[in-house]
Amino acid sequence: MKGIILAGGSATRLYPLSKSISKQIMPVYDKPMIYYPLSALILAGIREILIISTPRDLPMFKELLGTGENWGMRFDYIIQEKPNGLAQAFVLGEKFIGDQPACLILGDNIFYGQGFSSILAKAKDITDNACIFGYSVKDPRAYGVVEFDALGKVISIEEKPEKPKSSYAIPGLYFYDNSVVARAKALKPSARGEYEITDLNRTYLDEGKLKVEIFGRGFAWLDTGNSDSLLEASNFVATIQKRQGFYVSCIEEVAWRQGWIDNNQLEKLGKDLNKTDYGKYILSLI
Ligand code: G1P
Repeated sequence: MKGIILAGGSATRLYPLSKSISKQIMPVYDKPMIYYPLSALILAGIREILIISTPRDLPMFKELLGTGENWGMRFDYIIQEKPNGLAQAFVLGEKFIGDQPACLILGDNIFYGQGFSSILAKAKDITDNACIFGYSVKDPRAYGVVEFDALGKVISIEEKPEKPKSSYAIPGLYFYDNSVVARAKALKPSARGEYEITDLNRTYLDEGKLKVEIFGRGFAWLDTGNSDSLLEASNFVATIQKRQGFYVSCIEEVAWRQGWIDNNQLEKLGKDLNKTDYGKYILSLI
């Protein structure tokens, strides 16, 4: 399976913070934001990843993440000229995806909770279908929203509805079979002029091929859309790390636990960051 991180957009809700730098490169406590979705893909066992961003910001992601070789991975990069919608990722990524299934994660989505790796393993196991998620939030109007019937079957999905039919927002993590490329190419732009991920998901729903897994109340899906939620996400990560001593989304650790890098390489990476607690944490793992 191939992975895609979409880290584009103009993040106007974070102005002036995001006026001259990408939101997904901003700190969430002690790491750049993109580390969090990247670690989710690593946890899912996805080793080849395409990073999509704007012409302005893509060079910065290249500088930050490199080829991926250090972490036993491979990164590709592609520009999205205009923020034309999430579903465009699969059109831009057609060559990269090839004949494989694909997972898309948004560069500003943070997931954290026990059992995440088994949820990912289950979601990854798709044949000719799609798997997305539902997460109950207090105000789902800013998101895609999924509606269920009394038996838990999905009946509708809507993008940013004014009157949501349920409290279940759809997080920015999506698993698809290879037909996603053809489906994305066939989409028409929405009223706001974007190729909507919700329209893409609806093509699967209409064919009875959309699976929705629920993240329960013990699970954290964090938003980083405005300055308050950005601060809350930082505080959340800091609280967990200081209390437990385990790092949240330490790329080097997750890649090492996957067996993609050995102790020697982990030690080298830790030494390079030795001046920071992050580096010391890496060294303490060996
Ligand atoms: C996008 C999707 C929406 C999803 C959300 C998750 O919204 O369109 O369906 O719930 O990501 O973060 P946007 O970030 O473009 O407002």
